Amino acid sequence: MFLKVSLATLLVVLGLSTATPVGAAPVTVTNGTQFKDTSGAVVHAHGGGMLKVGDYYYWFGENRNPDNTFRAVSVYRSSDLRAWEFRNNVLTQSSNPELKLANIERPKVVYNSSTGQFVMWMHKENGKDYNEARAAVATSSTVDGNYTWRGSFRPLGNMSRDITLFRDDDGTGYMVSAARNNADLNLYRLTGDYLGVANLVRTLWPGSSREAPALFKRGGKYFLLTSGATYWQPNQQKYATASTITGTWTSPTNVGNSTAYGSQTAHVVAVQGSQATSYLYLGDRWAGAWNRPVNESQYVWLPLTFPTATTMTMSWYPRVSIDTATGVVTGVQ
Ligand code: GAL
Repeated sequence: MFLKVSLATLLVVLGLSTATPVGAAPVTVTNGTQFKDTSGAVVHAHGGGMLKVGDYYYWFGENRNPDNTFRAVSVYRSSDLRAWEFRNNVLTQSSNPELKLANIERPKVVYNSSTGQFVMWMHKENGKDYNEARAAVATSSTVDGNYTWRGSFRPLGNMSRDITLFRDDDGTGYMVSAARNNADLNLYRLTGDYLGVANLVRTLWPGSSREAPALFKRGGKYFLLTSGATYWQPNQQKYATASTITGTWTSPTNVGNSTAYGSQTAHVVAVQGSQATSYLYLGDRWAGAWNRPVNESQYVWLPLTFPTATTMTMSWYPRVSIDTATGVVTGVQ
Protein backbone atom coordinates (compact mmCIF):
# COMPACT_ATOMS: atom_id res chain seq x y z
CA MET A 1 0.00 0.00 0.00
CA PHE A 2 2.81 2.36 0.90
CA LEU A 3 4.37 1.81 -2.49
CA LYS A 4 1.23 3.16 -4.21
CA VAL A 5 1.75 6.65 -2.72
CA SER A 6 3.04 8.85 -5.51
CA LEU A 7 6.24 10.82 -5.17
CA ALA A 8 4.30 14.10 -5.40
CA THR A 9 1.99 13.05 -2.56
CA LEU A 10 4.96 12.01 -0.48
CA LEU A 11 6.63 15.39 -1.02
CA VAL A 12 3.45 17.22 -0.03
CA VAL A 13 3.15 15.10 3.13
CA LEU A 14 6.76 15.88 3.94
CA GLY A 15 6.05 19.58 3.49
CA LEU A 16 8.15 19.77 0.35
CA SER A 17 6.88 20.88 -3.00
CA THR A 18 7.61 20.22 -6.66
CA ALA A 19 6.43 23.76 -7.50
CA THR A 20 8.81 26.46 -8.69
CA PRO A 21 10.92 27.82 -5.84
CA VAL A 22 9.80 31.09 -4.27
CA GLY A 23 11.27 34.08 -6.04
CA ALA A 24 12.05 32.23 -9.24
CA ALA A 25 8.84 32.99 -11.12
CA PRO A 26 7.06 36.22 -12.02
CA VAL A 27 4.25 37.23 -9.68
CA THR A 28 1.43 39.69 -10.27
CA VAL A 29 0.46 42.44 -7.83
CA THR A 30 -2.92 44.16 -8.15
CA ASN A 31 -2.95 47.92 -7.68
CA GLY A 32 -5.40 49.96 -5.62
CA THR A 33 -5.89 47.15 -3.11
CA GLN A 34 -4.92 46.36 0.44
CA PHE A 35 -2.28 43.63 0.24
CA LYS A 36 -2.59 40.52 2.42
CA ASP A 37 0.30 38.84 4.21
CA THR A 38 0.94 35.10 4.12
CA SER A 39 -1.42 34.60 7.09
CA GLY A 40 -4.24 36.44 5.32
CA ALA A 41 -3.98 39.61 7.45
CA VAL A 42 -3.86 43.06 5.86
CA VAL A 43 -0.31 44.36 5.32
CA HIS A 44 0.26 47.58 7.28
CA ALA A 45 3.39 49.10 5.80
CA HIS A 46 1.96 52.50 4.91
CA GLY A 47 4.34 55.32 4.00
CA GLY A 48 6.94 52.60 4.06
CA GLY A 49 10.41 51.83 2.88
CA MET A 50 12.11 48.70 1.66
CA LEU A 51 15.59 47.27 1.83
CA LYS A 52 17.08 44.01 0.65
CA VAL A 53 19.00 41.82 3.09
CA GLY A 54 20.21 38.50 1.72
CA ASP A 55 17.47 36.96 -0.41
CA TYR A 56 14.67 38.97 1.17
CA TYR A 57 13.13 42.36 0.64
CA TYR A 58 12.10 43.80 4.03
CA TRP A 59 9.17 46.21 3.93
CA PHE A 60 8.79 48.59 6.90
CA GLY A 61 5.86 50.92 7.37
CA GLU A 62 3.22 52.61 9.44
CA ASN A 63 0.73 50.49 11.37
CA ARG A 64 -1.77 52.76 13.09
CA ASN A 65 -4.52 52.66 15.67
CA PRO A 66 -8.08 53.33 14.43
CA ASP A 67 -7.69 57.00 15.48
CA ASN A 68 -4.50 57.15 13.36
CA THR A 69 -2.13 57.41 16.34
CA PHE A 70 0.98 55.25 16.35
CA ARG A 71 0.57 51.54 16.99
CA ALA A 72 3.76 50.11 15.50
CA VAL A 73 6.31 50.14 12.79
CA SER A 74 5.68 46.74 11.26
CA VAL A 75 8.06 44.77 9.06
CA TYR A 76 7.29 42.08 6.51
CA ARG A 77 9.62 40.14 4.25
CA SER A 78 9.34 38.56 0.84
CA SER A 79 11.66 37.11 -1.77
CA ASP A 80 9.22 37.68 -4.64
CA LEU A 81 7.62 41.02 -3.57
CA ARG A 82 4.17 39.44 -3.38
CA ALA A 83 4.20 36.80 -0.62
CA TRP A 84 4.70 39.00 2.46
CA GLU A 85 5.51 37.23 5.70
CA PHE A 86 4.83 39.33 8.81
CA ARG A 87 8.04 39.37 10.86
CA ASN A 88 7.71 41.80 13.74
CA ASN A 89 6.39 45.03 15.13
CA VAL A 90 9.90 46.42 15.41
CA LEU A 91 8.85 49.59 17.24
CA THR A 92 5.68 49.77 19.36
CA GLN A 93 3.89 52.09 21.77
CA SER A 94 5.79 50.40 24.61
CA SER A 95 9.27 50.74 23.03
CA ASN A 96 9.74 54.14 24.69
CA PRO A 97 7.62 56.63 26.71
CA GLU A 98 7.79 59.04 23.74
CA LEU A 99 5.86 56.46 21.71
CA LYS A 100 2.97 55.85 24.12
CA LEU A 101 1.01 58.57 22.36
CA ALA A 102 2.63 59.59 19.11
CA ASN A 103 2.33 59.80 15.38
CA ILE A 104 5.07 58.02 13.48
CA GLU A 105 5.23 58.42 9.71
CA ARG A 106 7.35 57.26 6.79
CA PRO A 107 9.86 55.00 8.63
CA LYS A 108 12.92 54.20 6.51
CA VAL A 109 15.77 51.82 7.33
CA VAL A 110 19.33 51.59 6.02
CA TYR A 111 22.22 49.40 7.09
CA ASN A 112 25.40 50.97 8.44
CA SER A 113 28.28 48.64 7.60
CA SER A 114 30.77 50.39 9.90
CA THR A 115 28.64 49.92 13.04
CA GLY A 116 26.75 46.78 11.94
CA GLN A 117 23.47 48.49 12.89
CA PHE A 118 20.22 48.87 11.00
CA VAL A 119 19.25 52.51 11.41
CA MET A 120 15.66 53.76 11.13
CA TRP A 121 14.69 57.38 10.64
CA MET A 122 11.08 58.52 10.77
CA HIS A 123 8.81 61.54 11.19
CA LYS A 124 7.61 61.95 14.79
CA GLU A 125 4.68 63.96 16.15
CA ASN A 126 2.97 64.00 19.58
CA GLY A 127 -0.20 62.17 18.46
CA LYS A 128 -2.36 65.29 18.90
CA ASP A 129 -1.18 67.74 16.26
CA TYR A 130 1.62 68.21 13.70
CA ASN A 131 3.56 70.92 15.52
CA GLU A 132 6.55 68.96 16.83
CA ALA A 133 7.87 68.43 13.30
CA ARG A 134 10.69 66.20 14.45
CA ALA A 135 12.83 63.44 13.04
CA ALA A 136 13.45 60.35 15.17
CA VAL A 137 16.02 57.55 15.09
CA ALA A 138 15.92 53.91 16.21
CA THR A 139 18.46 51.11 15.74
CA SER A 140 18.75 47.33 15.78
CA SER A 141 21.55 44.86 15.15
CA THR A 142 19.16 42.65 13.15
CA VAL A 143 16.93 43.90 10.37
CA ASP A 144 13.66 42.65 11.86
CA GLY A 145 14.55 42.66 15.57
CA ASN A 146 13.15 45.03 18.19
CA TYR A 147 14.49 48.51 17.48
CA THR A 148 15.93 50.68 20.26
CA TRP A 149 14.56 54.23 20.37
CA ARG A 150 17.38 56.81 20.10
CA GLY A 151 15.23 59.91 20.51
CA SER A 152 13.55 62.61 18.48
CA PHE A 153 14.81 66.06 17.53
CA ARG A 154 14.74 68.81 14.93
CA PRO A 155 17.77 68.28 12.65
CA LEU A 156 20.06 71.31 13.07
CA GLY A 157 17.03 73.01 14.63
CA ASN A 158 14.94 72.70 11.46
CA MET A 159 11.36 71.46 11.32
CA SER A 160 11.30 67.98 9.83
CA ARG A 161 8.22 66.16 8.51
CA ASP A 162 8.08 63.86 5.44
CA ILE A 163 11.39 62.03 5.36
CA THR A 164 13.56 59.54 3.51
CA LEU A 165 17.02 58.00 3.80
CA PHE A 166 19.58 57.15 1.15
CA ARG A 167 22.81 55.20 1.45
CA ASP A 168 25.26 56.01 -1.33
CA ASP A 169 27.62 53.42 -2.84
CA ASP A 170 30.54 54.82 -0.86
CA GLY A 171 28.63 54.26 2.40
CA THR A 172 27.76 57.91 2.99
CA GLY A 173 24.27 58.32 4.41
CA TYR A 174 21.84 61.09 3.47
CA MET A 175 18.49 62.20 4.82
CA VAL A 176 15.90 64.30 3.05
CA SER A 177 13.08 65.94 4.98
CA ALA A 178 10.45 68.61 4.58
CA ALA A 179 11.29 71.77 6.53
CA ARG A 180 9.87 75.27 7.17
CA ASN A 181 6.28 74.04 7.36
CA ASN A 182 6.86 71.86 4.29
CA ALA A 183 7.86 74.83 2.13
CA ASP A 184 11.40 73.48 1.75
CA LEU A 185 12.98 70.11 1.24
CA ASN A 186 16.33 69.79 3.00
CA LEU A 187 19.06 67.37 1.95
CA TYR A 188 21.35 66.47 4.86
CA ARG A 189 24.49 64.37 5.09
CA LEU A 190 24.41 61.96 8.02
CA THR A 191 27.20 61.30 10.50
CA GLY A 192 29.30 58.18 9.92
CA ASP A 193 27.10 56.10 12.25
CA TYR A 194 23.90 57.49 10.61
CA LEU A 195 22.58 58.45 14.05
CA GLY A 196 22.70 62.18 13.49
CA VAL A 197 23.00 64.91 10.89
CA ALA A 198 26.52 66.06 9.96
CA ASN A 199 25.54 69.03 7.83
CA LEU A 200 22.89 70.54 5.60
CA VAL A 201 23.98 69.80 2.03
CA ARG A 202 21.38 72.17 0.57
CA THR A 203 17.79 73.32 0.64
CA LEU A 204 16.28 72.05 -2.59
CA TRP A 205 13.92 74.38 -4.46
CA PRO A 206 13.14 76.73 -1.53
CA GLY A 207 9.45 77.54 -1.18
CA SER A 208 8.26 74.92 -3.67
CA SER A 209 6.42 72.77 -1.05
CA ARG A 210 7.57 69.36 -2.17
CA GLU A 211 7.25 66.40 0.21
CA ALA A 212 7.10 62.56 0.29
CA PRO A 213 10.73 62.26 -0.90
CA ALA A 214 12.20 59.05 -2.40
CA LEU A 215 15.86 59.15 -3.44
CA PHE A 216 17.55 56.53 -5.59
CA LYS A 217 20.53 56.14 -7.91
CA ARG A 218 20.38 54.68 -11.40
CA GLY A 219 23.32 54.40 -13.77
CA GLY A 220 25.35 56.89 -11.71
CA LYS A 221 22.56 59.54 -11.74
CA TYR A 222 20.63 60.52 -8.63
CA PHE A 223 16.84 60.77 -8.81
CA LEU A 224 14.64 62.45 -6.22
CA LEU A 225 10.91 61.80 -6.56
CA THR A 226 8.53 64.00 -4.56
CA SER A 227 4.85 64.87 -4.19
CA GLY A 228 3.12 68.19 -3.64
CA ALA A 229 1.76 68.99 -0.17
CA THR A 230 -2.00 68.31 -0.09
CA TYR A 231 -2.38 66.18 3.06
CA TRP A 232 -4.03 62.84 2.18
CA GLN A 233 -5.17 63.99 -1.25
CA PRO A 234 -3.07 62.70 -4.13
CA ASN A 235 -1.33 65.23 -6.36
CA GLN A 236 1.25 65.64 -9.14
CA GLN A 237 4.55 63.87 -8.40
CA LYS A 238 7.73 65.41 -9.81
CA TYR A 239 11.29 64.23 -10.10
CA ALA A 240 14.68 65.91 -10.27
CA THR A 241 18.12 64.54 -11.11
CA ALA A 242 21.71 65.29 -10.21
CA SER A 243 25.09 63.96 -11.34
CA THR A 244 26.53 64.29 -7.86
CA ILE A 245 24.28 64.13 -4.82
CA THR A 246 25.81 67.21 -3.20
CA GLY A 247 25.85 69.11 -6.50
CA THR A 248 23.17 70.96 -8.42
CA TRP A 249 19.77 69.34 -8.83
CA THR A 250 17.53 70.03 -11.83
CA SER A 251 14.18 71.74 -11.35
CA PRO A 252 11.40 69.24 -10.61
CA THR A 253 9.66 67.79 -13.70
CA ASN A 254 6.21 66.19 -13.79
CA VAL A 255 5.99 62.41 -13.83
CA GLY A 256 2.83 60.29 -14.04
CA ASN A 257 -0.59 61.94 -14.21
CA SER A 258 -1.88 64.81 -12.04
CA THR A 259 -2.64 62.51 -9.07
CA ALA A 260 0.04 59.82 -9.52
CA TYR A 261 -2.95 57.60 -10.38
CA GLY A 262 -4.48 58.32 -7.00
CA SER A 263 -1.33 57.82 -4.92
CA GLN A 264 1.58 59.48 -3.15
CA THR A 265 5.23 58.44 -3.21
CA ALA A 266 6.46 56.24 -0.38
CA HIS A 267 9.63 54.72 -1.79
CA VAL A 268 11.38 53.46 -4.94
CA VAL A 269 12.90 49.99 -4.74
CA ALA A 270 15.55 48.67 -7.13
CA VAL A 271 14.77 45.11 -8.23
CA GLN A 272 18.11 43.72 -9.30
CA GLY A 273 18.05 40.37 -11.09
CA SER A 274 19.98 38.26 -13.59
CA GLN A 275 18.72 40.19 -16.63
CA ALA A 276 17.89 43.68 -15.48
CA THR A 277 17.62 46.16 -12.66
CA SER A 278 14.14 47.64 -12.55
CA TYR A 279 12.90 50.53 -10.43
CA LEU A 280 9.52 50.02 -8.81
CA TYR A 281 7.47 52.97 -7.51
CA LEU A 282 5.80 52.19 -4.18
CA GLY A 283 2.88 54.56 -3.55
CA ASP A 284 0.16 54.95 -0.95
CA ARG A 285 -3.48 55.54 -1.86
CA TRP A 286 -4.30 57.13 1.48
CA ALA A 287 -7.70 56.26 2.95
CA GLY A 288 -7.66 59.75 4.55
CA ALA A 289 -8.70 60.96 1.09
CA TRP A 290 -12.11 59.35 1.72
CA ASN A 291 -12.10 60.10 5.47
CA ARG A 292 -11.11 56.65 6.58
CA PRO A 293 -8.24 55.60 8.89
CA VAL A 294 -4.72 55.19 7.51
CA ASN A 295 -4.86 51.42 8.02
CA GLU A 296 -7.53 51.21 5.29
CA SER A 297 -5.13 52.75 2.75
CA GLN A 298 -4.24 50.87 -0.40
CA TYR A 299 -1.03 50.42 -2.35
CA VAL A 300 -0.16 51.51 -5.89
CA TRP A 301 3.00 49.99 -7.34
CA LEU A 302 4.13 51.00 -10.82
CA PRO A 303 7.19 50.35 -12.98
CA LEU A 304 9.33 53.42 -13.60
CA THR A 305 10.74 53.71 -17.11
CA PHE A 306 13.75 55.69 -18.25
CA PRO A 307 13.69 57.01 -21.85
CA THR A 308 17.15 58.52 -21.27
CA ALA A 309 19.71 58.47 -18.48
CA THR A 310 18.12 61.51 -16.82
CA THR A 311 14.43 61.23 -17.73
CA MET A 312 11.75 59.12 -16.13
CA THR A 313 8.14 58.20 -16.91
CA MET A 314 5.41 56.40 -15.01
CA SER A 315 2.19 55.03 -16.54
CA TRP A 316 -0.85 53.45 -14.98
CA TYR A 317 -1.31 49.70 -14.98
CA PRO A 318 -3.98 47.88 -12.97
CA ARG A 319 -1.44 45.17 -12.25
CA VAL A 320 2.33 44.79 -12.14
CA SER A 321 4.33 41.69 -13.03
CA ILE A 322 7.48 41.30 -10.94
CA ASP A 323 10.24 38.75 -11.39
CA THR A 324 12.82 39.23 -8.65
CA ALA A 325 15.02 36.49 -10.15
CA THR A 326 15.45 38.24 -13.51
CA GLY A 327 14.80 41.78 -12.26
CA VAL A 328 12.12 42.30 -14.92
CA VAL A 329 9.16 44.43 -13.74
CA THR A 330 6.39 45.27 -16.23
CA GLY A 331 2.92 46.75 -16.18
CA VAL A 332 0.00 44.45 -16.98
CA GLN A 333 -3.27 45.79 -18.46
C1 GAL B 1 0.84 64.20 3.76
C2 GAL B 1 2.10 63.44 4.13
C3 GAL B 1 1.70 62.17 4.86
C4 GAL B 1 0.86 62.57 6.06
C5 GAL B 1 -0.34 63.38 5.61
C6 GAL B 1 -1.19 63.84 6.78
O1 GAL B 1 1.13 65.41 3.15
O2 GAL B 1 2.82 63.12 2.99
O3 GAL B 1 2.85 61.46 5.25
O4 GAL B 1 1.62 63.35 6.92
O5 GAL B 1 0.08 64.52 4.90
O6 GAL B 1 -2.22 64.70 6.34
